[in-house]
Amino acid sequence: MDVFNSVKSLNERLSFSRDQGNSLGLVPTMGALHNGHLSLVAKAVRENNTVVVSIFVNPTQFNNSQDLAQYPQQLTADIALLKTISEDLLVFTPSVKEMYPEGLGAKPYSFNGLDRRWEGEDRTGHFQGVGTVVEKLFEMVRPNQAYFGEKDFQQLAIIRDLVRQKTFGISIIGCPIVREPYGLAMSSRNERLKPLDRVAAAVIYKTLKIAAQKALAQNLLSEITHEAIKEIHALENTAVFYFEFVNARSLEPIKTLENPENTRIITAVNFKGVRLLDNIGL
Ligand code: PAJ
Repeated sequence: MDVFNSVKSLNERLSFSRDQGNSLGLVPTMGALHNGHLSLVAKAVRENNTVVVSIFVNPTQFNNSQDLAQYPQQLTADIALLKTISEDLLVFTPSVKEMYPEGLGAKPYSFNGLDRRWEGEDRTGHFQGVGTVVEKLFEMVRPNQAYFGEKDFQQLAIIRDLVRQKTFGISIIGCPIVREPYGLAMSSRNERLKPLDRVAAAVIYKTLKIAAQKALAQNLLSEITHEAIKEIHALENTAVFYFEFVNARSLEPIKTLENPENTRIITAVNFKGVRLLDNIGL
């Protein structure tokens, strides 16, 4: 397992792989790794000769300085977890200075309206920061394929749009959500909840599943949404930011179910001060 702090040292190593004509996979992360991240890494290892996992807590995508300060950093544990997948990974752990030599700042992207709602509305500037760091990583690593989780469904749509706009020639591979056995979508932020609260928060996934089933059976989307929000609000200290049926490509809300294959239910919930995201396809 080789760990690189600088773009220069990483590229010296990568030029060797490139010379061999090997396919290169990239898995961008912010560390505090769990099985969700590891599923992306395992898929990348199956599909590429060389895999770079980046670990970088990106300041420009946090609109809340407390959230940034609280973000867990545990490089030694992360590396031990990565070793369980493969000893041959290349781990890229740049400093803020290495990623932002020109100083912290985000580019003013237009993502064709994909960033206007949902996480974009509640967290101003978040996707500009994500776009900026992902574009930098793509330019530094120049992978053939990059792996992102459906857990962050809006982020995945935005990265696909970024790649279309910039014609990087990188394939974006979306990977299914990995959950705890009781249903909660895995997330580094779950660590901020007590174990019993994590089990209680599984109601979010249960509600998504029920809403998806009901929608296929009766198509009364506004009633289903209303019921679902009521169900989640029954958890103490909870606020639902949004719970919406959307077009899976445009992320625009839909009122009637016309094309189930292209429909997603997306939700964000504040549970005991922790923002939990989840979504489900129909
Ligand atoms: P991070 O939250 O660390 O997530 C890294 C990748 O892991 C993302 O693509 C995310 O969707 C995926 N992931 C997280 N939890 C998952 C789960 N339970 N199942 C499947 N995939 C999961 O997302 C980011 O970092 C950052 O915004 C980043 C893209 C690295 C840019 O800074």
